[in-house]
Formats: sequence, structure tokens, C-alpha cells
Amino acid sequence: MSDGANWVRLAGVKQIGRGEMLAATAGKRKIALYHLEDDSWHATDNVCTHAFALLTEGFLDGEEVECPLHAGKFNVRNGKGVCAPIDGDLATYPVRIDGADVLVGLPA
Ligand code: FES
Repeated sequence: MSDGANWVRLAGVKQIGRGEMLAATAGKRKIALYHLEDDSWHATDNVCTHAFALLTEGFLDGEEVECPLHAGKFNVRNGKGVCAPIDGDLATYPVRIDGADVLVGLPA
């Protein structure tokens, strides 16, 4: 592809309803997929930047995901940490829907 990303199928569209998230892996990378109520799709690293916890085991509230361990929150659209104790932002990845597939663009 000309955009330099490596597009990988990480889920099926029907696996993630609106307002839901799903844990996925691509090689060693743990990725969280989010399908928001506005029908937009987003992907971030699934491991919290504060300590080790999987965000998909926390709570998705609108466009914010709350970590299950210390209740830090991130905006899933841009990966920004939005409250303490978060001191680092999450990596985000582009998402593309191709028919029934959810594709995520990983760094090549
Ligand atoms: S591990 Fe996520 S807020 Fe502490």
C-alpha cells in the first residue's frame, strides 16, 4: 500500500457492537479496538501507559476508556490521557472497515 502502513484484519465488524471494545493482538502488539456510539472506529495500544493493565478489561464510556487498575482514562480518538494518574498517551492506529472486516494500519 502506498500509505506505508501494514493493514491487518484484527476483527470482524459484527464482533464489536456500538459502544463496545475488543482486545486483539498483532504479533507481540496488544491492541484495543473501539466501536463508538457514533459508528466511528478507533484503535489504540491496549496496555495502559501507567502500569500493566489491559484497557479492554476496563470500561468504555463514550469516547473515553477507563483503566481497570487505577481508573485512569484515555480518549480513544487520539490516545490522550485525560486524568490522573495517567502520565503518558497511548499509541493510536488508523482503522479501516473493508466489508465485514476491521483492518488496522500498523507501522510497516
Ligand atoms: S495501570 Fe492504568 S491507571 Fe494505573
